[in-house]
Parts: sequence; C-alpha cells; structure tokens
Amino acid sequence: MNNEQNILFKLMGACIIFIIVFAPSVAFTQQGKIISSYGPTNQTETFDQIKRARMAVKSERAKQHLEMLNSRYDLSKKTTVELIMSGGKPIPIGPTANLRGVTWEQLNKMTPEQIKEKGIFPYKPLPFPDHAEGGMLFPVMITKLLSRLVRFDLDFDLPEHILPDPAPAIYLTTRPDLGDIAKGRLITIDNYYEIFNGILNPKQLEGLRLLVTQFPQQQFNATEDRRTDNHDGMLGVTCFDCHANGHSNGATHLVGDIRPQEFRHRIETPTLRGVNIQRLFGSQRAMKTVEDFTEFEQRAAYFDGDHVMAAKKGVNVLERGSQVHFMAEFMAILDFPPAPKLNIYGKLDQTKATPSELRGEALFNGKAQCASCHPEPYYTDNSMHDLKAERFYKQELANGMMMAHDGNIKTFPLRGIKDSPPYMHDGRCFTLEDIVEYFNLIQQLDLKSEEKKDLVAFMRAL
Ligand code: HEC
Ligand code: HEC
Repeated sequence: MNNEQNILFKLMGACIIFIIVFAPSVAFTQQGKIISSYGPTNQTETFDQIKRARMAVKSERAKQHLEMLNSRYDLSKKTTVELIMSGGKPIPIGPTANLRGVTWEQLNKMTPEQIKEKGIFPYKPLPFPDHAEGGMLFPVMITKLLSRLVRFDLDFDLPEHILPDPAPAIYLTTRPDLGDIAKGRLITIDNYYEIFNGILNPKQLEGLRLLVTQFPQQQFNATEDRRTDNHDGMLGVTCFDCHANGHSNGATHLVGDIRPQEFRHRIETPTLRGVNIQRLFGSQRAMKTVEDFTEFEQRAAYFDGDHVMAAKKGVNVLERGSQVHFMAEFMAILDFPPAPKLNIYGKLDQTKATPSELRGEALFNGKAQCASCHPEPYYTDNSMHDLKAERFYKQELANGMMMAHDGNIKTFPLRGIKDSPPYMHDGRCFTLEDIVEYFNLIQQLDLKSEEKKDLVAFMRAL
C-alpha cells in the first residue's frame, strides 16, 4: 500500500467509526428530546417544589396501579393455620391470578401464539407502583416499625399476607444447634449487639453492624431530591431494611442498569439465606461473589446505577478488606431454614414425606422437568436461563412499564422457598400455586390439577 492509499484507508475507517458511534445518538435526539442515561444532578427546584409535584400525581398513579393489580390478581387473603413459614406466618394459598374468560384447563391446551393473540397470559411482568418514578419502597409492615422508611410520595402496593414474615427466623450455618436466633425480633442497630455478642466472632459482629447501619441512598439522603420528610430517613437505609433478618421482607426496587425507564425491571428483594452455596448474585447481573454484590449495592444499585448521582448524594464507599469482607462473612453464615423431611442428599425421606409430597418429587424430577434447572440438594443449578415468557404476551406499555423480554434470569434456589413469597425476580407470582401454573404454561406441560397440587406440596417441604 502506498502512502496515499494508506491515508485514504485510514480516513474511510474514521468515517465508519464516526457513523457507528454517533448515528444512534442522532436517532435518540430526532424527536427534539435527548433520552439521557443520567439523572438530573443539577437540581433547580427546591425540596418543597419537588415534593409538591410528586404529591400532585400520587393518588392518581396509585389508583391506576391498584386497578391494574385488581384486574390481574385476586388480592383477598387465603391461608390456613396448618401451613406456616419457618417464622410462624401463614403461607399464602393460590393461584391468585385472575383468568380472562378461560379456565386453567383451557389455557393449558392453548399455544403461546394463541395466548398472546388473545391477550390472556396471567403473569406478565409486574410494574412498579409508579414505574416512571421507581426507587426503594418498603412494605407497610416495616414502615410501621421503622417510620424513617416512609416515602411521602409512594405507598407500597402488595397486601401483607403475600409477603414474608416481618421479622423472619435466622439460622446460622455455624450454630445449627441454636435454631432460630431472631425469635420474632427484627434485628436493627438497637438490638443486634446484645443478641449476637458471644455467638459471632468480632469480624462477623462488625459485619452485622454495617448491615444494620444506615447509608445514603437515592430516595433517602439529605439533598433536595429526596423522597423522605423524616429526619432519620435522611441518614439513608440499611441492608437489613430490605433483607430483614438476612431474609427478605418483600421490599421492592427498580433494577439499576437498564435504560430507558420503562424497560427497567421491578425487582423483589431476594433472601440472603444460602448465599454461601451460590455462585451468581443478582437476578441478571451475575456478580461472582457476595463481596462484589455488596459493593455493587452500595455504590450503584442504591443510586439506580448512576455513579454521578451517587457522588452528589453522599455514597458510602466501603473498604474492601475490613468492611465488605466482614459483611460478606456474616452473610455467608446465613443458613436455609431447616427442612426436616429432606435427607442428606436433599431428597425427600421416604419415611417422613406424605404420598402427595412424594408424587410431587417424582413429577419435579420427571414429567415437569423442574430438576433440569433446579437440581437437589439446594434446587439451583447456579446458572441463568431465558424462559422466553414474551412468547405469551405482546410488547406494549402497562402503567409506564414496557411488557418486554425478561432475558436471562438467575435460577433462584428452592430450599426454604415457602418462606419467600412473592416469587420470581419481580414478584409476579404471589404463591407457589401461581408458580406451578406459570411453569405449566412456560414449559407447555399440560399438568392435571392433582399433579399441580402435588408439586406445590413438594415445594413446601423443601
Ligand atoms: C430495596 C431494598 C434493598 C436494600 C436496602 C439492599 N438490598 Fe440487596 N437486594 C435487593 C434486591 C431487590 C436484590 C435483587 C437484585 C437483582 O435482582 O439484581 C438484592 C440482591 C442482593 C444480593 C444478591 C442475592 C442473590 O440471591 O442474588 C446480595 C448479596 C445483597 N442484595 C446484599 C445487600 C447488601 C450487602 C446490602 C446493603 C449494602 C443490600 N443488599 C441492600 C434489595 C435490597
Ligand atoms: C429452564 C430452566 C427452568 C425450569 C425447567 C424450571 N425453572 Fe424454576 N426458575 C428458573 C429461573 C431462571 C427462575 C427465575 C425466574 C425469574 O425470576 O423471572 C425460576 C424461578 C422459580 C421459582 C421462584 C423462585 C424465587 O425465589 O422467587 C420457583 C418456585 C420455581 N422456579 C419452581 C419451578 C418449578 C416447580 C418448575 C417445574 C414445574 C420449574 N421451576 C422449572 C428456571 C427454571
């Protein structure tokens, strides 16, 4: 190649790079408005002005959201005293999804295309109570105990009977002999020391202190752009405000790393029980360690994945060696709840299980193929799968959320699953009965009604 050819070649390369880099941004500005990835760090409105604007839309948005929930689900309470979570709260019973002019049996026989065409899939992605707004949102059962977690602009949407215990049981891998350590108490900065001193080593105790200490977050901070009018709320949130007692209280959030806003997933707080046997963290992020996820929560998820906003609102950067490590060390001893019917292989003990549970186990491993993604002993393959639920619904807006593809989602472990409603990364299945209906459709299994009951009975024993 001579010199001129060389220059021409480089010029052409530069043009192609220019087109690749700048063409999409030109497309985004075509309607005369930039859809920015960044939040407004340079606020020109006061706290009072922001609050007034939010209050002006609060009741209308809440009404629309409740209408959507009521059209999709039966929110009335169904429980029995015999079926309880490890902490003693009754397990919700379903299915809670409302069907539109069909029976479950008819739905079983329809193809994904037919269900999509008729618009009758019962488990579309669940929008956040005010999807355009988002942020951390805590159930009423928690805000009643900790008033610093009240948001002035948004109320929690799901009824308490489909949420976990407000103060879940705590089991430690290091001291199984102690059983439940929480005994109905919600662990906070006020009581953690007296309850755990003498049971944990000093590093774990310090890790737990950090897990119950408030740090600034997007809605709970001291800037004009906060969503709390409570003085204590301005100090931030703690890890255990959502992962109550190392489990979950059903607090919800929008995933930090998808743009634009309508494509972001609602996410339901997962339990931290059993993180020790897991290899991937976050429903979609696939962080490789609990340490990485802890840093990610604080630096990024707390501020919707916006590190610029995080700097403004006072992000608390944790020190890896002496803080992140200690927090992770405590999280890694949070055990699954006891499952007295499982043997050392994580399978049902034939002498302890009921006939229905045993039939459920056979289905789980056989016809229903659940075990291909949820193998014993912990019922996770520590991987991610794309269930392609979008085969069943059209891509359209519902209350500010795009009913879009979920993509690859982590296989959450099913050990102790009875304690963790609502289910799925966004909480779209309120009960284990809904889960069975969901997978029955997703996998096109055509299960009989008795088979569905057996599968639920098996999962309650895990
Ligand atoms: C809104 C309440 C909330 C708060 C506060 C919170 N988390 Fe989370 N946590 C979540 C949600 C929601 C997820 C799921 C994230 C996802 O799906 O990507 C999660 C996921 C996790 C996971 C991964 C669990 C798994 O099974 O994949 C870990 C570990 C974790 N959080 C630790 C922490 C720590 C440590 C803190 C404090 C620094 C914290 N969380 C604060 C809601 C919260
Ligand atoms: C192809 C892999 C695959 C198969 C087959 C499968 N699952 Fe899952 N399961 C997943 C994934 C991935 C998730 C998380 C999905 C989400 O959050 O959107 C999940 C979530 C769940 C949950 C909710 C967990 C939680 O913590 O919220 C339950 C319960 C469950 N599955 C039970 C079953 C049952 C019962 C079957 C068989 C009828 C089954 N699964 C078949 C991959 C699978």
